[in-house]
Parts: sequence; C-alpha cells; structure tokens
Amino acid sequence: MEQLKGLILSGGKGTRLRPITHTSAKQLVPVANKPVLFYGIESLAAAGIKEVGIIIAPETGGEIREAAGDGSQFGVAITYIEQDEPRGLAHAVLTAEPFLGDSPFVMYLGDNLLRDGISDLVDAFRESEPDALILLTQVPDPSEFGVAELDGERVVRLVEKPKDPPSDLALVGVYMFGPAVFDAARAIDPSWRDELEITDAIQWLIDSGKRVESRLVRGWWKDTGHLEDMLEANRLVLEDIERRIDGELVDSRVEGRVVVEQGARLERSLIRGPAVIGSGSTIADSYIGPYTSIAPKVTVSGSEIEHSILLSGSRVTDLAARMEASLLGRNATLARGDGLPKTLRLIVGDNSEIAIP
Ligand code: TTP
Repeated sequence: MEQLKGLILSGGKGTRLRPITHTSAKQLVPVANKPVLFYGIESLAAAGIKEVGIIIAPETGGEIREAAGDGSQFGVAITYIEQDEPRGLAHAVLTAEPFLGDSPFVMYLGDNLLRDGISDLVDAFRESEPDALILLTQVPDPSEFGVAELDGERVVRLVEKPKDPPSDLALVGVYMFGPAVFDAARAIDPSWRDELEITDAIQWLIDSGKRVESRLVRGWWKDTGHLEDMLEANRLVLEDIERRIDGELVDSRVEGRVVVEQGARLERSLIRGPAVIGSGSTIADSYIGPYTSIAPKVTVSGSEIEHSILLSGSRVTDLAARMEASLLGRNATLARGDGLPKTLRLIVGDNSEIAIP
C-alpha cells in the first residue's frame, strides 16, 4: 500500500463545550495536562504515519498552529488546512483533498481519545486495502451514536442515532479511507443539519459496491465533546499515570499515584491521587482529591477539589464547599469574599454554568 497520510479534524464549533470554546479550541482542553489533540497526533505517529494534515477553523486555527507547530515534537510533518465553515466531516475531507491526493489516509476526530491507540487497526487497513475501514465499539446506549449493521466484518448499513438500533456497535471517531471517499463526499447531499455527513459518504460507498470493512477497538474510547466526557476521559487517563514528585513539598502529604511537576509547590496540603499538579502551580492549605488535573500556573488555597480540571492561570481561594466535577477555564477566578461568611466572589465568563449548594 502507498504511504498513508493522517488527517485530524480540529475545526468545528464546539457548541457543547461552551463557554470554554468561545475563547479557545476544544481540542486544546487538557486531559491529564496534555491537550486532547496531542493524543491523536501521537497515535498517528505511533502507527507509522509521517505526514499529518490538520483541519482548522478560522477562529481557533491560530492557537492550534501555535500548540502543535510543524509537528517535529511528535516526529511528523504537519500541514494546516483551513476549512472556512464547519460544514460536516465529509466537507472537511473534501477540503483536504489537495493535501491528501491519491494517498489512503486515516481520519481522526481531534476531540477523540482511544486508550490503546490505533496502530494494529492501521496495520489491518494496510493489509486489507479496503475502500473504507471504520472502527466500532460496543456501547450500552447505541441510540445516541452512529451505529453499524454488519455481515461478518463487512459493513452493510450505517444509521445515525437509530430509534431501533440494528446492533450495539457505535462508530468511533477514527476512519480509514482510500481515494474513492472523495467521489462519495461529492455525491451526497447535505443532511437536515446542513452538513455533509461522513456516515452518508460511507453509506454511498457501500451502495456503490465498494468494500467497507470494520474492526472493533479494544481499550476505551471517549469523545470529549461534552463536559462529562471530558471529565471521564481525564479520569481514565489519570488511572494509568505513574507517581512522580519533582515539585516542592512543605508540610504536605502526597498519597498514591500523583505527578507533581518541577516548579510546583505544595504547602500544608494533602493530595490524594490519581492527580497531576502542573509546574508553577501553588497549592496551599488545601485538599486535592482523586481524578483532578491542575494545569501550570494555577493557585489553590484554603479549598477542596476533586474530579475536576483546572486550566492554566486559574485561581481558587477559600471555598466553603468542595469543588467537584468542574472545569475551570484559563485565568478564571473563584473565591470566597473576605466580608460576611458564605459570600462568593466570582469572575465568570459569558454562558458559564455554576452550581452552588
Ligand atoms: P463535532 O464534535 O461533531 O462538531 P463540533 O466541533 O462542531 O461540536 P459541537 O457539536 O459541540 O458544536 O466534530 C468532531 C470533530 O471534528 C471536532 O474535533 C471538530 C471537527 N470538525 C471539523 O473539523 N469540521 C467540521 O466541519 C465539523 C462538523 C467538525
């Protein structure tokens, strides 16, 4: 098979992760202190792919370029491809046609995460050379997903969010294609939501007698488009970390699998893993509980936090209640006022959601 290329979709609107996505790309939200997007690039690199195109949106493309650069940090060469509007996954494929040319390629949704990577699945694609290979995983609630009906490993039908699912096999956000997909994407019409749907393009391939195969993924898969999924992905990645304490501890205790980066400082605090504390962060007189990722340059004092993600530059001070299952944006501030007891002092962006007991 010809040299495979990679295509990561990192445009889109990210409406489901507002307000974080008003100012920043959702693919750059960190999971265990690493942007979601980087896990995808690393998976493509590990599968032996050298040339990666990244679809970007005009609004958030700049910071994605800045974060991923020319790709040398991952051992790949990155080409950025601007998509003027998020008109669907199949539209993104057409936008990337000049970059992809005749090469078979792996398309990876930039906000998706697969625990065991994709290397063996990409090998299966190289070996079998079908027109498309889709990845599937069993889910308890198939009516929430794109679902495949199979005949052996061959795919006979795809249905989006079926009321009466033909199987419990949901489409994972990684697809592999040969060049026939461009004809498919050109042939289909926009859907009810006015997008060129990749499921319609794959169905077109099936209906045109092309070979569409499937494989099951082994480890867990997460689409981090919603807050709950983002927190769940963070939990699952932290589940696998190794203990490493490079920061400074003053009268503090660190229990279990915790990473404290160099330049982080803990004062009179208890950290119970799995958790990560980024460099330049200070945790004072606080408790940080399991499944918490604290980015660099965060300040936490007099507070308790569990199962949350705090982005860089955020500050949490003297909370009266434990903060849980929360995502705090960059440079956000959450504090208790110094006046009366039980007052709150917040700096909150547009469309934020805060639940106070
Ligand atoms: P989605 O999560 O399906 O779409 P979205 O980013 O617009 O999110 P929301 O539903 O919250 O508004 O997209 C999956 C991935 O593909 C994501 O990384 C964004 C990217 N994408 C593109 O690059 N171009 C597109 O036209 C679309 C629809 C998505």
